[in-house]
Amino acid sequence: MVSADKRAFVIAIDGPAASGKGTLAKRLAAHFGMPHLDTGMLYRGVARVMLDDGRSLEDVDAAADVAESLDLAEIAEARLRGKEMGEAASVVAAYPKVRKALIDLQRRFAFQPSGAVLDGRDIGTVIAPGAEVKIFVTASPEVRAKRRFDELAKTDGSVTLDAVLADIRKRDERDSGRMSAPLRAAEDAHLLDTSALDIEAAFRAALAVVESCRSN
Ligand code: CDP
Repeated sequence: MVSADKRAFVIAIDGPAASGKGTLAKRLAAHFGMPHLDTGMLYRGVARVMLDDGRSLEDVDAAADVAESLDLAEIAEARLRGKEMGEAASVVAAYPKVRKALIDLQRRFAFQPSGAVLDGRDIGTVIAPGAEVKIFVTASPEVRAKRRFDELAKTDGSVTLDAVLADIRKRDERDSGRMSAPLRAAEDAHLLDTSALDIEAAFRAALAVVESCRSN
């Protein structure tokens, strides 16, 4: 297994569903000209292959096999972004065997010489605990639900705010309550609550954190 203590400039962005971590990670990566990996897409990719192959999401060994042979090229697909895949991803993401199978791929990405920005749930705690910058992005469940609702409503007229809020709460519970790499802020993470911040303000706040870590 690739060890977690390789030296490279890593920016780890973690946080719950629809907290804005993906947007922030993408903006930071573009700003610094660094590669970015949205690690949620890996779990979504595993879930998609399982569902496409007609496998039950309960089949832990099959999910681990899929994770073991997952190719980054397989995850660049819009369908993975949907609500169902997010839910299915959080089911397979709770399996320790699946998480273990995806560690090397994430660490190889993190520790490339250019450095990297990764966003997910356990980047600062498990994948790159030595990351130079760790930001834990949060927002209230209501604010997160509204953001996700606005996003989904563009393509799905049947979606309701209440249903999205219920999904977010369920996913928070599953991600925080699992035994393996539960969603939590690393002790040395900078907390960034974006409840009252728009994208621009959140980006400026995240940038200030990165700059302060770089000058230390
Ligand atoms: O975009 P959103 O926050 O809704 O979801 P995502 O980041 O694509 O993650 C989908 C699911 O994958 C999460 O609910 C987690 O259960 C899981 N995940 C994880 O366990 N560890 C990661 N590093 C990233 C995602």
